[in-house]
Amino acid sequence: MPARKKLLLGNWKMNHTIAEASAFCDSIKDTKELAKERGIQIGVCPSFLSLQTVKRKAKGIVVGAQDVSAFESGAYTGQVSIPMLQELGITWALVGHSERREYNGESNEVCNAKVKALVSHGMTAVYCCGESEEIYEKGETNAWVENQIRTGLKDLTKDDMKNVVIAYEPIWAIGTGKVATPEIAENVIGYIRTVIKSMFGKGVANRIRILYGGSVKPGNIHEIMLKPDIDGALVGGASLKADSFRELVANL
Ligand code: PGA
Repeated sequence: MPARKKLLLGNWKMNHTIAEASAFCDSIKDTKELAKERGIQIGVCPSFLSLQTVKRKAKGIVVGAQDVSAFESGAYTGQVSIPMLQELGITWALVGHSERREYNGESNEVCNAKVKALVSHGMTAVYCCGESEEIYEKGETNAWVENQIRTGLKDLTKDDMKNVVIAYEPIWAIGTGKVATPEIAENVIGYIRTVIKSMFGKGVANRIRILYGGSVKPGNIHEIMLKPDIDGALVGGASLKADSFRELVANL
């Protein structure tokens, strides 16, 4: 099985002004070195407004947008297009984060259009999926997540999948301090891998990176990352401060 490089991605959500984002970049030199030594790919997803600053200042890390429009241009007030991101050298974007699904009504079909638009431009999509507490309690997580994966990644080719990362984030664990146990995360992520295998074959299933997200902290990242199917983390709150971000890298 090919080795999958571990990935630690910070999702800053609606936090950090440009000045704050800039200060973060000034204090991650050590963290970048540590990540390099340890063979871990690291990155952050700032607000659209901070992308240019972070991209310029934080050389050598992934800088991703938190969302993107599926359309090239046009009458889509408030949205940001792929060419606008590309002009800044941004080549990664999150798609379908649960907060976008919840507050902006993004369906699996909308996510699919965004993922397809990104990969067709040679960009990397971090496609987020995950179930609500209610679905989890009913024991319907796998079916729910499978539908998110099958619809969200519909019509992609094996080649397109080289530019896709999946993030499994149970909604009940996001920002709640209620982290999924490593066993729960591994079970669902292992299941996602079997769905990917049935859609795209064994090669893609073995190669694709699948992250866990939801209340990942410096104190719990290690035990989660010990699980063989989990290739890294998408981290909200604990990625905001440079110290905590460094600790995540150190403990991963
Ligand atoms: P959290 O957020 O780490 O603050 O729980 C994770 C996410 O929403 O990506």
